[in-house]
Amino acid sequence: MTTRILGIESSCDETAAAVVADGLTILSSVVASQVDVHRKYGGVVPELASREHLRQIAPVVREAIAQANIALTDVDAIGVTQGPGLVGSLLVGLTYGKVLALALDKPLIAVNHLEGHVHAVLLEAHSAGRTPKLPAICLIVSGGHTLLYRVDAAAGNSGNGAVRFSYARIGGTRDDAAGEAYDKVAKMLALGYPGGPVIDKLAPHGNASAVRFGPAKIRGNPYDFSFSGIKTAVLYYLRKRPELQAEVAVRQRSLANGERGAEALRALSTSATLDLIASFQYAVVEDLVKRTLGASEQFTAQSVLVSGGVAANRELRQRFEEEGKKRGLEVFFPSRPLSTDNAAMIAAAAFARFTAGEHADAGLNAAPNFPLGVASPPISR
Ligand code: KG4
Ligand code: ZN
Repeated sequence: MTTRILGIESSCDETAAAVVADGLTILSSVVASQVDVHRKYGGVVPELASREHLRQIAPVVREAIAQANIALTDVDAIGVTQGPGLVGSLLVGLTYGKVLALALDKPLIAVNHLEGHVHAVLLEAHSAGRTPKLPAICLIVSGGHTLLYRVDAAAGNSGNGAVRFSYARIGGTRDDAAGEAYDKVAKMLALGYPGGPVIDKLAPHGNASAVRFGPAKIRGNPYDFSFSGIKTAVLYYLRKRPELQAEVAVRQRSLANGERGAEALRALSTSATLDLIASFQYAVVEDLVKRTLGASEQFTAQSVLVSGGVAANRELRQRFEEEGKKRGLEVFFPSRPLSTDNAAMIAAAAFARFTAGEHADAGLNAAPNFPLGVASPPISR
């Protein structure tokens, strides 16, 4: 018998609902993005995010049920994101899920958003008939997170196909997340919000070795990240170049007039700006690839999983694939729609917990700092 799980995700600035069958097949996946609401602030404004979730949650869930071609009563369980994320945003999806579960008399499953990102990769891999070998190293890289985990099969798996995983955190950012650095650099350069997709499109038009950004100097754990230094380096680079600042002002006016496409922005950028963009992306991508593959070597990983909004980046995918091939390591990415926040990944992650009977009770509360798995002992080299 098929198990259909309704997933609900509202941890940040996307209101999402999806129906996934047996943790593997996406029957529907609806995402209402709030990018237009937050654009003029250059980042997510928590109060506005909660308000938008409230407006969107009911129509998004209704749409997910309609697209799956089922009735709400056909759902076997409801999986909701418990955390990490913005508390006001989390509460909207969580409360809605709780009420639905009560009204329908179906189990409620609490899902860690980060585990959802891991399942985004697995969902896609399974539908392509590929199963990542374990242990795997997983890089979750988004606007809110840059984290490295070792992923293993959990002890006591039931063997009924719904594999449970165990997670050990082996590194993470000490300051900004990689996506945050993309967004902040894009703001400095007047490239619009969110910055990642535009920088992704513009970087191939610049010379990546034009500006040297040294790797972040981090003491202790070699699998920790830091991106605030490169952001400051871009700021200082701009301060010393009035001609680039003049270009920024022109692009700012263009953005204010509603012109946002990467092509329009490229036409307003000289090669010096494109070189800076390419060099920034090169430094970030190399850092992510190097530390992740370093970890996969140290932990003799059999595969690498890369997930989160920044995993949509073309240069990042290409570099991981090249380096993975050299090492005989399979690298798995979700498709672009599953890289950014969505609810299909939440429903998929909920499935294994559902089959294990891990139901949440009506007292379930949002956990804005919900960690995933256990922290490994500190590593130093
Ligand atoms: O996973 P996500 O949708 O939300 C968070 O949980 O943060 O990720 C959004 C982040 C933003 O910082 C955005 O600039 C970045 O992912 N991003 C990208 C690309 N697409 C989205 N960064 C680099 N290249 C991309 N193609
Ligand atoms: Zn996310």
